[in-house]
Amino acid sequence: MKILASLSLAGGQGKTTTATLLGKHLAAAGYTVLVIDGDPQSNLTTFLGHEVAQNEPTLLEVMKASVELEDAIYETKIKNLYLIPSDDGLDNAQEYLSTTGMGAMVLRKRLSPGQGTFDICLIDSPPQRSQICKSIIGAADRIVVPCEATVKGFGSLVRTLEAVNELKDLDAAKAELMGVIPFRDRWVGANQTQESRSVIEAMREEVGEDLVLPSIRESEQFKKAISQQTTLAELGVPDLAYPFDVLVERIESMEAVAVA
Ligand SMILES: Nc1ncnc2c1ncn2[C@@H]1O[C@H](COP(=O)(O)OP(=O)(O)OP(=O)(O)O)[C@@H](O)[C@H]1O
Ligand SMILES: [Mg+2]
Repeated sequence: MKILASLSLAGGQGKTTTATLLGKHLAAAGYTVLVIDGDPQSNLTTFLGHEVAQNEPTLLEVMKASVELEDAIYETKIKNLYLIPSDDGLDNAQEYLSTTGMGAMVLRKRLSPGQGTFDICLIDSPPQRSQICKSIIGAADRIVVPCEATVKGFGSLVRTLEAVNELKDLDAAKAELMGVIPFRDRWVGANQTQESRSVIEAMREEVGEDLVLPSIRESEQFKKAISQQTTLAELGVPDLAYPFDVLVERIESMEAVAVA
């Protein structure tokens, strides 16, 4: 099982959009995919049409090891796509993770029983540098950072990469950067806006040409694909899914990850 996190330490950068659409894209390509909602705002859970019932196990219970991993995994309406949901109770994981002393290691350990069952695990993260966020970074083999093509977005990219590097420095994480996805890349007709162009250029200088993936264009179609619980291809705009096509190729070419 290859574990990827959709990560950014700022709000509204496209983390949940990326996790949702990439998950559907991989499932449609025939992979068995586990998506995990690592954000107490639980947008991913909502986007996949799941409602957490009272007393139903979620990511919180998985983190605390009060249930088996498989008891918190639910089918979605999409073939091959499974979900570990969350609700705002996930905030209670903060204290648990900070008192274990090994918070960054917890999620990776909890996911190890899924190694033989799923091909790919995608984790959506919260927008703060929290204990939950550290545990997600610690669990990941690869990190995808969506980043709004604005000056503010670029600042969040720099902070996000710093946070990952700090954990790697302490040997609390081993995730490599799989790529940065410019989010809400704006074009007017055939012309990219000046801000989008210059910010994406700055991203290339920051992480290197090869690690800046094709953009998620500014478009209502992405919101539509999510709210109508469909894919960009099914909406008739397969070209907009190009960033996910490239991500699938990169995931396919990842080396097999050792069983934890
Ligand atoms: N291609 C797009 N063009 C314009 N807006 C988009 C596009 N894709 C998604 N959006 C909108 O951008 C907003 C932010 O996206 P998303 O929720 O994926 O970000 P996030 O990083 O997960 O945010 P948070 O940190 O709050 O969880 C959402 O309101 C979403 O509907
Ligand atoms: Mg989100």
